[in-house]
Amino acid sequence: MPIPTQPKYQHLADHYRSAIQASSLLPGQRMPSLREVVRQHTVSLSTAMQVCRLLESEGWLEARPRSGYFVRPAQAAATLPPVNDPPMQRAPDPAQYLGIHAKVSEYLALGRMQRFKTNLSIARCAPELYPAKALQQAAQRSLRLDPEQLVRAAPPQGCLEFREVLALRALLAGMRLSASDIQVTNGCTEALNLALRAVAQPGDTIAVESPTFYGLLQTLESLGLKALEIPTSPRSGISVDAVELALRNTPGIKAVVVVSYLQNPTGSIMPSAHKQALLRLCQQHDVALIEDDTYSALVDDSVLRMEPLRAIKSWDDSGHVVYCASLHKCLAPGLRLGWISAGRWQARVEMLKFAASRSNERLAQRAAASFIGSPAYDRYLRHLRATLATQRTQTAQAVATYFPPGTRLTVPRGGLSLWIELPHGLSATALFHAALAENTVIAPGTIFTNSNRFESHLRVNCGWPFTPEVDRAFARLGELVGELAKTR
Ligand SMILES: Cc1ncc(COP(=O)(O)O)c(C=O)c1O
Repeated sequence: MPIPTQPKYQHLADHYRSAIQASSLLPGQRMPSLREVVRQHTVSLSTAMQVCRLLESEGWLEARPRSGYFVRPAQAAATLPPVNDPPMQRAPDPAQYLGIHAKVSEYLALGRMQRFKTNLSIARCAPELYPAKALQQAAQRSLRLDPEQLVRAAPPQGCLEFREVLALRALLAGMRLSASDIQVTNGCTEALNLALRAVAQPGDTIAVESPTFYGLLQTLESLGLKALEIPTSPRSGISVDAVELALRNTPGIKAVVVVSYLQNPTGSIMPSAHKQALLRLCQQHDVALIEDDTYSALVDDSVLRMEPLRAIKSWDDSGHVVYCASLHKCLAPGLRLGWISAGRWQARVEMLKFAASRSNERLAQRAAASFIGSPAYDRYLRHLRATLATQRTQTAQAVATYFPPGTRLTVPRGGLSLWIELPHGLSATALFHAALAENTVIAPGTIFTNSNRFESHLRVNCGWPFTPEVDRAFARLGELVGELAKTR
């Protein structure tokens, strides 16, 4: 099966990004005009525009009215090279039962023990960035109109008005769902649990991104499933070649789980061609494709202008995609709302949800439905994304300023985390312990895998305002990395 090559505009964007990193294009300097790009590279005007918009979304360029695109001064200072891709075609490690619990629980417990701290290890926004007031008003209005709702049983599939609003929003990512295709869940965590239990039995194998969200590894372990880690690029997500190899050579794979937008922890976004190729593979091999959409609402607007959101499920005509979503990161961590639309496994998922936890409570769903269904939701999301873009740039700037030469940094095109690779193979686990002793918590790369990879990597949060305290924490982290380098 032909594996898609990198789209032309990404290839050209690489070229100009490297030129900025190598100072061939200097801060404040004008980027070649769209016409010049068209002429020099024999591409269409729309490809040239995609290149500039991509570089703008990554913070390398800024558009000036009627003058074209210019290299941004701030980003020019933060010219760390991006984190390397892993070897994308290597054969996966043998599938294994996970022993992740001991490792992850230890880190989480250590992080929680610190009472006064700068916590750079979490992956959500500061509470003040979420719409607390609007949700409070919506909840109060709902209680006024229906005071008995707390003492009546709620519908098992979820409140109809909430599912209708979710179905309408799903259209924005190209999915044509009705309320009856949706099961409301307790966050994406419950959606993933239900998805895995619907498509697999204990002892089966699930292909996952490597590195991946540690919560998924915990879920697999708790369900007695084996994980097959597939190399995943910080830029373009899971290697479709490696998935194909795995599906051909490993018996018993029941599902592939991917986060196609703003993967955790790398922040990658899968190109559309990769998403479609992955879907075709899963259909050919008759395995489920579990699409975890926890972060797409946080994709930068400049990316969306270039290419509107498109869920893998939007191409699925065979029911192989199990779409799992969350409102945790984009709306309200406290509501614990998520949902699942499980294609050919929908009836089984509904039964499993009913057996596991019955319905979600009504008030949270109604408050969320009222806010998401109003024009205020999109205004709020645009503001949130712009705030996160600023915080990402500030955080990237701090890493570029304080970390030693050789550090690599991936700044995703949206979301609330950065992915860092320390120089000379230095240990991020050692950095975790050294920083913890000084009340700063980071997420070391090793918790995102059950192999011994990503020892030199770390994920840092930029969902909180970039205060002088955060700046000091990064300055100290940079010094600690320097000290680790000396003790090698
Ligand atoms: C990729 C991914 N999936 C799922 C979750 C869990 O989502 P929820 O809090 O809605 O259960 C997270 C949370 O960090 C995540 O990063």
